[in-house]
Amino acid sequence: MSAWMGMTAGPVAVHGHRGARTVLPENTLPAFEYAIEHGADFIELDLAVTKDNVLVVSHDPIVNETICRGPRKHAVIREMTAAELREWDCGAIANPEFPRQKTVPGARIPTLDEVLALAPRGNFGFTIELKSNPQRPQFAPAPDEFARLVVDVIRRHKLEDRSIVQSFDFRTLRATRKIAPSIRLAALYSGPPKDFPSIAQEAQADIVAPNFKLVTPEAVQAAHRAGKQVLPWTPNEPAEWDRLIAAGVNGIITDDPAELIAHLARRGLR
Ligand code: G3P
Ligand code: CA
Repeated sequence: MSAWMGMTAGPVAVHGHRGARTVLPENTLPAFEYAIEHGADFIELDLAVTKDNVLVVSHDPIVNETICRGPRKHAVIREMTAAELREWDCGAIANPEFPRQKTVPGARIPTLDEVLALAPRGNFGFTIELKSNPQRPQFAPAPDEFARLVVDVIRRHKLEDRSIVQSFDFRTLRATRKIAPSIRLAALYSGPPKDFPSIAQEAQADIVAPNFKLVTPEAVQAAHRAGKQVLPWTPNEPAEWDRLIAAGVNGIITDDPAELIAHLARRGLR
């Protein structure tokens, strides 16, 4: 595992967003395996929590009917057991937003445990997003409890050094910092332009992870002066990658990790 984004792994660390959504169904084991096999430095994943407090990998608190097939509509993950959730197939429907995406019929919503069990497959890290929203508390545990559940699983797999915990809900980051001070934290940010050091400070984070459109060279320099890394999401086009690389970002979260790796290699950056 590289000591840190951009050090041994090269100047710009590649994070496979939801695995590799351009080519395989998001947040599934095949997508994560693809990203690992193609050399991603990190795999990015989203977390929800079932009724029986199992951490599962889903971007949406209600199973997304456009990409998952199951026995009923409006399946709220927090109201279901992990066993019930296994009835949904989230690999059989190709996401229409990604024309190159292949289906993997039978792919289930994996648990965090299953994804972390991929660790021996390579020298990569985990970018773990806690999906929590103060406006919708019914969909997630309270921040302290959510952080505790996640830290417990990371520790059970001995992956503290290979994990980054990220969230838009800074309460969960501060809760993680309290119980696991050594785990790196990334403050996700979308909204009006705001200076990066302030975002990191509010979240007690090591990394600012902004919408890529908010990145400028000046904003990156300010973050670096404050000792913070910058990790934007989710550009998928070479021209966008080039702009971010020139701005000095430390990593890029992309749906197409294999292509970003090839792009960096063509520019002599890996
Ligand atoms: O990793 C950052 C990015 O994943 C945040 O946006 O909506 O894709 O989870 P979202
Ligand atoms: Ca995410």
